[in-house]
Amino acid sequence: MKLELKGITKRFGSLVANDHIDLTVEQGQIHALLGENGAGKTTLMNVLYGLAQPDEGEILLDGKPQHLGSPSNAIRAGIGMVHQHFMLVPVFTVAENVTLGLERTRAFGWIDRRRTRRDVRELSERYGLQVNPDALVEDLPVGVQQRVEIVKALLREASVLILDEPTSVLTPGETQELFRIMRELQAGGRSIVFISHKLKEVQEIADVVTVIRRGRVVGQLPPTASDSELAALMVGRSVQLRVTKPPAHPGDVRLDVQDLRMAGDQGTAALDGVSFQVRAGEILGVAGVQGNGQTELCEALLGLRPVDGGSVRLDGRDLTKAHPQQRLRAGLAYVPEDRQEDGLVAGFSVAENIILDVFDQPPYARGIAMDLPTRDRTAAERVADFDIRTTSTATPVGTLSGGNQQKVILAREVGREVRVLVASQPTRGLDVGSIEFVHRRIVQQRDQGLAVLLISSELDEIYALSDRIAVMYEGRITGFRPPDVPAEELGMLMAGASDADAAAASAAVVEAPAGGPDTGLMASGLLGVGVPTDTTTDPASSTPSTPADDQSPADDDGGEPE
Ligand SMILES: Nc1ncnc2c1ncn2[C@@H]1O[C@H](COP(=O)(O)OP(=O)(O)O)[C@@H](O)[C@H]1O
Ligand SMILES: [Mg+2]
Repeated sequence: MKLELKGITKRFGSLVANDHIDLTVEQGQIHALLGENGAGKTTLMNVLYGLAQPDEGEILLDGKPQHLGSPSNAIRAGIGMVHQHFMLVPVFTVAENVTLGLERTRAFGWIDRRRTRRDVRELSERYGLQVNPDALVEDLPVGVQQRVEIVKALLREASVLILDEPTSVLTPGETQELFRIMRELQAGGRSIVFISHKLKEVQEIADVVTVIRRGRVVGQLPPTASDSELAALMVGRSVQLRVTKPPAHPGDVRLDVQDLRMAGDQGTAALDGVSFQVRAGEILGVAGVQGNGQTELCEALLGLRPVDGGSVRLDGRDLTKAHPQQRLRAGLAYVPEDRQEDGLVAGFSVAENIILDVFDQPPYARGIAMDLPTRDRTAAERVADFDIRTTSTATPVGTLSGGNQQKVILAREVGREVRVLVASQPTRGLDVGSIEFVHRRIVQQRDQGLAVLLISSELDEIYALSDRIAVMYEGRITGFRPPDVPAEELGMLMAGASDADAAAASAAVVEAPAGGPDTGLMASGLLGVGVPTDTTTDPASSTPSTPADDQSPADDDGGEPE
């Protein structure tokens, strides 16, 4: 089915979220919609899915004008959507979830259910989705839940499928799996609108890329367009994602972690004796494949979960048993992995979120009364300082885009007197413009003397920011490395090789010197989001370079089979 959007305009008060957008998606096309956070991508798709009513413009399917008006109309017209945040009921099975709201009613419920289970199984097999109709949704990994959403759309016979930032919740491996499924669906004649802000992804999967910026279509490019072309179009200026960072001048030890232990859910140790120190004025990056204890480490540092052994000291003060609130007051700042869950109160305003930790203290409170003018003045300053794009400080934070939500957290966390910043996956799901901003602020905090612990599963981020790198594997730090360590060596450590083996293998390779320490990494595209300063990099050669790929060479010696 061919889809045409003509002159779609959507306003929220004075904000024009979509400004006369034209978009044509051919049958069987994977059409990428690339844009920064807040560019208006989700709004446009909500219009297409009947969730939002456009103020102007029309939608045509196979040349016929449509009056969508509601999701059920859109579904009937053959449009399916996988939302950024899934809309599944956790305690229901897959089959129960996919039939929710389905209009196909049968005489007896049980016939329906049996048929659905068969349908799910069939679809799952045809497209290699590996979805079990009887599994409980809450037991499924995020990647599989996403495939359940896809099944749901396919059962409703969607011929146009909208995937809104589907990869922001996926591991590199799951992303590849999704791409494979997308190609299968394409081969079956379906059209796909793929929303992303990741250059590498659109280059890899799209047939054509439409770039939108501040509500407008600013260009259409083939997927062969270079990183710099795409990025420049997306943010409207050339970006430099290679963080320019003066050398660190580490001072005294601020954060001292010794032998932390914590039992995991399955009886194995989630933290198995973790020790490290972070000094004032340095960034220690913790690299590692997700799920090797990083989340538990954060929980231990913040006091969100008790430890079974070891100690956490901040400026020499023992905080091992301290309450989270005490730790924050002692000067710990935290940018959590999951913004929606842990970082923000969605229904509170931007202003309320900015002073969330300190609202009951001077200057925001006198006795039991809140000083609202002071709060609002502080909030307005931070909004300007952190370039938070919002219509007002009274706007509920939940309506901001991900990048702007992250800026609210950062503004709050480093806006008070802090000494140690723990940042976990600080740019996950953000667009290049926001990533650049967040990275710059983190370096700025370091240079103001904070000790920064950066936990990230993105190797590019680790390389861009770290002054020292620690690798975490199965609840342990398997090695510390300087920031110019070859990626192969980090990859080996991340895959479980011992410190000595990784160093030895790497030394053998380094025998043949080729250029400076970073040239190989940069040119290989390993610094994924990095926009190369020269544009000679062949996009095709840089696409599949993900941390996951980098583990495979380690299988030769250090790596353990599963
Ligand atoms: N329901 C809403 N009310 C007010 N403003 C909104 C609403 N939904 C989105 N916006 C604003 O519209 C702009 C575009 O948002 P969105 O479409 O979510 O961007 P994207 O998906 O590209 O990140 C943003 O500035 C956002 O804050
Ligand atoms: Mg969006």
